Amino acid sequence: MTIMVLEAGTAAKLAAGEVVERPASVVRELVDNALDAGARSVTVLITSGGLDLIRVVDDGTGLARDDLPLCTARHATSKLRGIEDLAAIRSLGFRGEALHAISSVSRLRIRTCRAGEPGIEAQYDGPTLTRETALGCPEGTQMEVRDLFYNTPARLRFLKGPSAEGSRVEQVMRRYVLGHPGVAFKVLIDGREALHSSGSGDLREAVSSVYGWRLIERLVPIEASEAPGSLTGLLSTPPLSRANRSDIHVFVNHRWVQSRSLLFAIQDAYNSLLMIGRFPVAVLDVQVPPDRLDVNVHPAKSEVRFADERGVSSLVGRSVRAALRGAAEDERSEKPISVAQFAFSPVSGTAEQVLQGGTWVPGELPSAFEAPEQLEPTGHAEGRLPPLRLLGQLASTYIIAEGPQGMCLVDQHAAHERVLLERLQAADTTGVRESQVLLEPLVVPLSGAQAEHAARWAAEITTVGFVAEPFGAAALLIRAVPAEVPADRAASLLAELQEGLEGLDSAEQRHRAILATTACHSAIRAGQVLDQLEMRRLIRDLEQTRVPTACAHGRPTLLEISRLDLEREFGRRGSR
Ligand SMILES: Nc1ncnc2c1ncn2[C@@H]1O[C@H](COP(=O)(O)OP(=O)(O)O)[C@@H](O)[C@H]1O
Ligand SMILES: [Mg+2]
Repeated sequence: MTIMVLEAGTAAKLAAGEVVERPASVVRELVDNALDAGARSVTVLITSGGLDLIRVVDDGTGLARDDLPLCTARHATSKLRGIEDLAAIRSLGFRGEALHAISSVSRLRIRTCRAGEPGIEAQYDGPTLTRETALGCPEGTQMEVRDLFYNTPARLRFLKGPSAEGSRVEQVMRRYVLGHPGVAFKVLIDGREALHSSGSGDLREAVSSVYGWRLIERLVPIEASEAPGSLTGLLSTPPLSRANRSDIHVFVNHRWVQSRSLLFAIQDAYNSLLMIGRFPVAVLDVQVPPDRLDVNVHPAKSEVRFADERGVSSLVGRSVRAALRGAAEDERSEKPISVAQFAFSPVSGTAEQVLQGGTWVPGELPSAFEAPEQLEPTGHAEGRLPPLRLLGQLASTYIIAEGPQGMCLVDQHAAHERVLLERLQAADTTGVRESQVLLEPLVVPLSGAQAEHAARWAAEITTVGFVAEPFGAAALLIRAVPAEVPADRAASLLAELQEGLEGLDSAEQRHRAILATTACHSAIRAGQVLDQLEMRRLIRDLEQTRVPTACAHGRPTLLEISRLDLEREFGRRGSR
C-alpha cells in the first residue's frame, strides 16, 4: 500500500460529507448563516428536493466585498477569533466549514449587498471565487446552491427521492419557525408554498403556522426562570397526544437540539397523564448563559452539553409539571356549573338524578376515544366526563352507561385505579392520610438487598399510609395500611412493591411507583360483580378526578361508541 496525501479538492469533498449529508443539511447551514447575519426575513426555495436548486434569501447584514473570496475557505468564519470565544458563542455557526463544504460539492453563487454599498454577484468554482459582477440588489444575501453532489455520485446514491428530500427540508424549516418566532420564514418547494410564518414574535402564531390554529387552543404556556436558566414554550394537555416524539421540539438558546435528557424530562413530567407509547406536542426554548453550554459536541451541531445537565433537566421537568398542573386547575375553576357537577357534588347527594338521565351540557364530552393522532380538536372539552346514565355491568368488568354522544363503557378496574391514585396523590399535598389499623400486625419478609434498606423501606411506604417498622434483621412489621387498600391485599401489595421498586433509584420515582402500584393493587378488579350503588359511586368518584380518562398506567378508563357509529353499523346511515 502506498500512502498518498489527498489532493485538496478530494479531501474537501470527503470532509463535506460530514457537514452536508443531504439537501436539508445545506438548508440548515444556509439558514443558520442568515439568522447569524441578523435576518428578520428568510425565504427558502428548493426544486427537485434541493438537488437542482437551493436558494436562501435573507435581509441580514450582507457580506463585505473583501469577504467573498474568503468565506468559502476552510475554517473561514467571522464569528470566532480564537478557541476562547467558543466558550461564550451566541451565533448558530462557528466552525467556518459550511460554505467550504457546500461549495466543494455544488455550484455556488452569492448575491449580497451591505447597507450603503453596491450589490455584488460572486460565482464560485468549487471553493474558488471565479467571477465578481456589480449588480443592484436589496440589502441582504441570496445564496444559490445548484447541482448539489454533482461531483460526488456516491453521496447522491444515498439520497431518497426528491419528494422525501423535500419533506426533510420542510421539517427542518418547521423547526426554525418554532425556534425563531421573531423571524418571518417562507418556504417554497417546487413552486408550492409549504410554510409561511409572520415573524411577529408571538410563539402562538409561529406554532399556528406549523400546526394550524385549532391546535393552539389545546396548548398551555410554560414559563420559568430559575437557576440554572429559564424557559418558555407551549405544551399540549392530555389527552392530546402523538404516536412518536417528532412533535416535541426542544431549543437551547434558540438552537434546535436533540437532547435525550431534556426529552426524557419532558416525557417524565407527563408521567401517568399519557398512555404508554404516546407523546405530547411541545415547543420549548431553554435559555442558559452561553458559557454554561458546550455547542461544539456534534458534527451537525444538533447536540449540546450543559455544564449543569441535571440542573437543566430538573428545571424543565419541574416547569412542565407545574404548567400542566396549572392548566388542570384552570380548567376546573372555569368549568361551568353543569348538571353533572351539581348532582355529583357530595353535598347534594343526588348523583342518581344524573345517572338516570342528566341533561347534556355542551363542552363536557369525553374524549378518551378520540383518535389520539388527530391534532384537530373535535369540540370535546378534554379530560372531563360527560353526565352518564347507568345501564348496567358487562362481563363483570365494564360499566355500561349512556352518555350524550352514545354508549360509554367504563373499565371498572382502570377507573377505580385512577380514583385511588388521585386520592393518594392528594394526600401528598394535604398531608392527611387515612390508615386502617390491622387487628393483627403483618410481618413481611424482605429479600437480601432490601433487608439492607429496611429502614428506608419503612419510611417510604409510610408516606402512603402504611405504619411500618423494621422487624428483626430481614422483615418489616406492618401495623396499619392505607385506607384505600383492602386489608386482605396488604401482604400481596407489599410483595409487589418490593419487586416493582427494584432498580428505581431516585426517591421521586420510587414514590410515584409506590402510589401507582398501591392504586393498581387496591382497585376493584375485573371480574368483580358490582351492584348499582357501587357502580354509581365509582362513576361519581371518577367524575371528580383530574384526569378521568386514563388510569395510573395511562390506559383509557372509558370508551365511547357514538350514536353515529351505531347508526352506521345498523345501516341507518349510508356513508361509511
Ligand atoms: N447569509 C449570510 N449573510 C452574511 N454573512 C454570511 C452569510 N452566510 C455566510 N456569511 C459569512 O460567511 C462566513 C462563513 O460561513 P460558514 O462557512 O457557514 O461558517 P460559520 O457560519 O461557521 O462562520 C460567516 O462567518 C459569515 O461571515
Ligand atoms: Mg455557518
